[in-house]
This record gives sequence, structure tokens and C-alpha cells, in this order.
Amino acid sequence: MDRIIITGGRPLRGVIPISGAKNSALKLMVASLLSSEPLTLDRMPRLADTRFTATLLESLGVAVDWPDAGATVRFHAREITSTIAPYDLVRKMRASFNVLGPMLARVGHATVSLPGGCAIGARPVDLHLKAFEAMGADIVIEQGYVKAAALRGLKGASIVFPFVSVGATEHAMLAAVLADGETTLENAAREPEIVDLANCLNAMGAKIEGAGGGAIVITGVTSLREARHMVVADRIEAGTYAIAAATTGGEVRLEGAVAQHLGALIQALRAAGVEVIPDADGIVVRRENGRLQPVDIDTQPFPGFPTDLQAQFMALMALADGTSIARENIFENRFMHAPELSRLGADITVRGKEAVVRGVAKLHGAPVMATDLRASVSLVIAGLAAEGETIINRVYHLDRGFERLEEKLVACGADVRRDGGSA
Ligand code: UD1
Repeated sequence: MDRIIITGGRPLRGVIPISGAKNSALKLMVASLLSSEPLTLDRMPRLADTRFTATLLESLGVAVDWPDAGATVRFHAREITSTIAPYDLVRKMRASFNVLGPMLARVGHATVSLPGGCAIGARPVDLHLKAFEAMGADIVIEQGYVKAAALRGLKGASIVFPFVSVGATEHAMLAAVLADGETTLENAAREPEIVDLANCLNAMGAKIEGAGGGAIVITGVTSLREARHMVVADRIEAGTYAIAAATTGGEVRLEGAVAQHLGALIQALRAAGVEVIPDADGIVVRRENGRLQPVDIDTQPFPGFPTDLQAQFMALMALADGTSIARENIFENRFMHAPELSRLGADITVRGKEAVVRGVAKLHGAPVMATDLRASVSLVIAGLAAEGETIINRVYHLDRGFERLEEKLVACGADVRRDGGSA
């Protein structure tokens, strides 16, 4: 099993091109199921999760044309040839569950396994299913499968989410595009990925207004047309490298990163004493001297501090001059990186949904284990700043979400390599 070996202590200096957002790409790919016309996506990140989604879509009848090494991918769902997404395919990645809504909307029925995914809490899909029921679908859960049917088509509905869910907002939006009449989504998620999905669906001929705000209105249409769309830049990847540059010191330009998508992180980095300078097509992050200041974070739906950057920010705070608190409000069980960071010398105590981080002057390399996607990359960040060698096992988690990670870091002077040693 692959592992990543980092010899830490080198500041990052250089330019890092930001890839298309994984979390957006997965839903955009699934949107191709809604139309008998082709959908072409540019700036597609080449990741384990996107390749996997391509395989799932192919199993449902979508022709996927993804040239080797290319970032432009064409999806053509001329006909849906299967409406069953089996356990073996869905369990590996939670976002695959999102094929349910588009198939239900386009052909009136679908059978999709309940999802698996990262081990960061229970992560149910009740809000997704309630939204489809409100649109007139009959749902039964049998032997781990969701069987959904709306044989006379979905109907527009008024849906008020009891709390903010990115996945449920996207999934309801995907299904409502082809429903009969108007659907309103209240207390909708406002993440940039929601706006990206709405823009893509509108380019396909959907009628969606209000994405990016708390209320989204979708007027159903009967069919969609051919479209081409560029995946939004990955704010979590950009934020991760911003934190890496802040942790190691140095200066990195994040090419293509969008500062408006990273407001909460930029504020926290500046409070820690890091320079963050947005420019025309990116963000420059610089830290030359001195200890970092401790900064508390509190994860919230967008525009709050993203849960997907909590682990990375904790690696930064491990080296601050004082004590900080990270509060995780979105997922239970999302501090699995804390004991691994402690192996590198961090001083972290977890109490329920809070982690108390007492900054230390130095981290020291050690063997550690990746647990989930974002946790893994926090270990990479800590390893880049630590003295000596850090070996990260189980790196397949990283490959799910970070495109060309070692290459991008090495280009900025990091000493990072991968080998196929045992885990
Ligand atoms: C998405 C992102 C993930 C990110 C998360 C929050 C993708 C592929 N993943 O996940 O990286 O960490 O947003 O920004 O885009 N919940 C329910 N019932 C539901 C749906 C959600 O109880 O039906 C709960 C979840 O367990 C969680 C909270 O709502 O506690 C928020 O989850 P949600 O926003 O739906 O996250 P995902 O869409 O799964």
C-alpha cells in the first residue's frame, strides 16, 4: 500500500495551480444523467473519486469520454440503460448516492444503495429522501437499498430544510430541474459548489434562481440541451495549500483560487499573523518570520469556517504561540487527526465537539496513519513543518481528493515522495 514520506522543515515557495473542485465535479458529473444531450466539463480534477463516479455513470449507460491526462470530459446519457446503483459502487463514496434524484426525475424510478463514504459520523440521507417525497416520489428502504418511484413524474414542491445540508440541497435541485412546476428550497446551503451546480444546470436549460442565497427557486422544464461548463476552483484545495504555506513559512501563489470563496479562512489566517493578498487570478499567502498567533475556529455552513478545513487549520494551530480551540459543529467524530497530530508532537485534547490545541514550538517527524480525506492532508501539512521524517500510511484517502499533491508540493520546494511500502 502506498505511503508518503516527507522530510519537513522546508518553507514552501512557488506557484500552485488550483484544480477544479472535487465536491462540485461529482455533482456536475451526475447532472449529465438528466439530459439526453451531451454535457462537457472543463477543469475536471483527475481524482480517485471522479474516476470512480465516471465508472458508476458508465454502469448506468452514460458514455464518458475522458482522454488520458485531459481535464475536459464529455458525458452523454443518451439513454439510461440501468436505474440500479449497487452497494459495491455506492458504498465507496457517499456522493454516488446523488445519482438517485436525476434518475428519478428523468425515468421515474431508481434503486440506489444507501451510501458509505468517509468515516466522519453517521451522515444519514433523510433530508434527501424527504425532499423527493415532497415532490411526489414513493420511497421504500429494503435491504439497504432506497427504491424510489414517481411513475407520473415529480411535481414541484415547497421544501423547508430543518438544517443546512449541502448534499440535500444539491440533490433536491437536481431532481427539481425536470419536475412539473415550481420547487422552492428554503434554508438551502449557500456553498460555492451549489452556485456552480446551478450555473451548470442553467447552461443546460434549467431555470434556477437564487442559488448562493438561502432560498432557491427552480421552475421545472421538460428537457435539457447540450452544454459546456467549467468546474469552479477547489476552495478546499486552495485553503489547504494556503494553510500549508502558513505552517511552513514561505510564500505561495494559489493560481485560480477565489478569495470570495475563502473569506472565513482568510480572516482566520490574518488573525494568526499570516499575510493573505488576493490578486486578479489567485491569492498570495506569505509568512516569513515569528510565531503564529492562536485563533479559535468554529465550523459552520458557508460562509462560515468550512468543516473541510478544520483538520488543516488544527495543524497550523499546533504551532501557534498559545492555546486555541477548534469547534466542530457539522460532523460528529471529525477529530480523528488529533491523535495522529499528537504523534508528531502536537498538544491537543478533544472534549466532545471541541479540540483544545496548545501550541508547541516544534513538531517532530513520526509515522502516522491517514484516516479520512481532510484529516490525511492535515498530517501532510504537519509533516511539512515538522523536523525530520514523517511517513503517512493509508494515503489512498488523499488520492480521493487532492490532484497531483506531491507534484504540486515538490514544485514549491517540499521534500515529499511516495513509495509502495507496507501500511
Ligand atoms: C458535503 C461535502 C463534504 C463537506 C460537507 C459540509 C461533498 C461530496 N461533500 O457533504 O466534503 O464536509 O458537505 O460542508 O460535497 N445530514 C443529515 N441528513 C441528511 C443530510 C445531512 O442529518 O439527509 C447531516 C450530516 O450528517 C451532517 C450535516 O447534515 O451532520 C451536514 O451534512 P451535508 O451538508 O449534507 O454534507 P454532505 O453533503 O454529505
